[in-house]
Amino acid sequence: MDNTTRAIHADAVYLEDSHAESIAMTSAYDFDSAAEAHARFSGEKPGNVYSRFTNPSVEMFEKKLAALEGGEAAIGLASGMAAYMAIAMSFLKQGDHVLLASGIFGTTTHLFRQYFGQFGITATSVQVDDYAAWQQEMRPNTRLMVVESPTNPLMGVADLARLSTLAKRNDAILVIDNTLLTPVFQQPLQWGADLVLHSAGKFLDGQGRCVGGAIVGREDLIKPLRAYLRSSGICMSPFNAWILSKGIETLKARMKLHEYNARHVYSWLKQQPDIEAVYSTLASDHPNREVIQRQQTGHSPIISFRLHGDKARAWRFIDGLELVSRCTNIGDAKTMITHPATTTHGRYTAEEKAHYGITDNLVRICVGLEEPTDIIDDLEQAMNAAKAAADDGVMVY
Ligand SMILES: Cc1ncc(COP(=O)(O)O)c(C=O)c1O
Repeated sequence: MDNTTRAIHADAVYLEDSHAESIAMTSAYDFDSAAEAHARFSGEKPGNVYSRFTNPSVEMFEKKLAALEGGEAAIGLASGMAAYMAIAMSFLKQGDHVLLASGIFGTTTHLFRQYFGQFGITATSVQVDDYAAWQQEMRPNTRLMVVESPTNPLMGVADLARLSTLAKRNDAILVIDNTLLTPVFQQPLQWGADLVLHSAGKFLDGQGRCVGGAIVGREDLIKPLRAYLRSSGICMSPFNAWILSKGIETLKARMKLHEYNARHVYSWLKQQPDIEAVYSTLASDHPNREVIQRQQTGHSPIISFRLHGDKARAWRFIDGLELVSRCTNIGDAKTMITHPATTTHGRYTAEEKAHYGITDNLVRICVGLEEPTDIIDDLEQAMNAAKAAADDGVMVY
């Protein structure tokens, strides 16, 4: 059976004969006897204990996502950052070293550098597709490699199989953040990743309704994460798990429409004289084109581009949009735009921004599910207005 079909039907929780899955909104569970309570608490007998670490709705979400990613097991957590926290706390100890792909989500880099740095864990950033640098920066104490492919916002791509070989050779755990592509367009476990991570409130939800996180992988790696969840309490709420489970049912259909719309927007952007550069894995001249074709079965609707001019021009363009939402989120039915240098990557130093190409004239859109001509019309009118304002010298920022 296909993974999509398995995910739609995976271990649903039903209240009597309702067709839609039910939500297990409960903190605790009744036991038939004291012995039964003891057996479940000690793990001798399977069953729910307390919703901090066992809940049927969360379990339903986990089974659906594991089916889609082709993984043995999954764990749902409060957010994507909670998922990173769980990985770090479960697999790292004082003195360990972490390799981070450069240009990953700014808060992920901050978590490892700032917070784990306080406890004697060091982190080095490496350009995502510079394999000589990955090899060179690998140390005997490197325990974790954290990679997003594609990276956000500049859509750099890593050869996951190559990084997996390196990780295995050095006994490090390879974590792939698959938020941008979802299992519909990329299944990192197939390419040798140890763990796949999701910020689940993005495409898995699809309509920006909740925050959630998840990790998929082999049972022996998910088990310690579950133990950490029990002690840390960074759990997913049953309600969010239900929303995300329903989101997964329509994920494939939505991703295909996101991609279809993104192709239209990308083609239009490429033709605009007012744009210096466009970044997408759709690019026929993408430096990692061969890897993309082998590894991905589709494209993320995230497209970044550099407008001619400076920050004022970029902000004027963003503020002139009427349909497209000014919102730093991704993975929504509504098209969204953001200015990475002052939002998502605002915590990067000036040197880091320059190094990673997060310039002031860079904007990122996540193409939604509206009719593509409407998205393009809005981009066009805002671009014309920003150009006219620049030509008139009336930039107010
Ligand atoms: C690629 C990626 N990974 C992880 C995160 C963090 O996830 P969350 O916001 O669910 O904590 C984000 C957030 O935007 C993200 O874009």
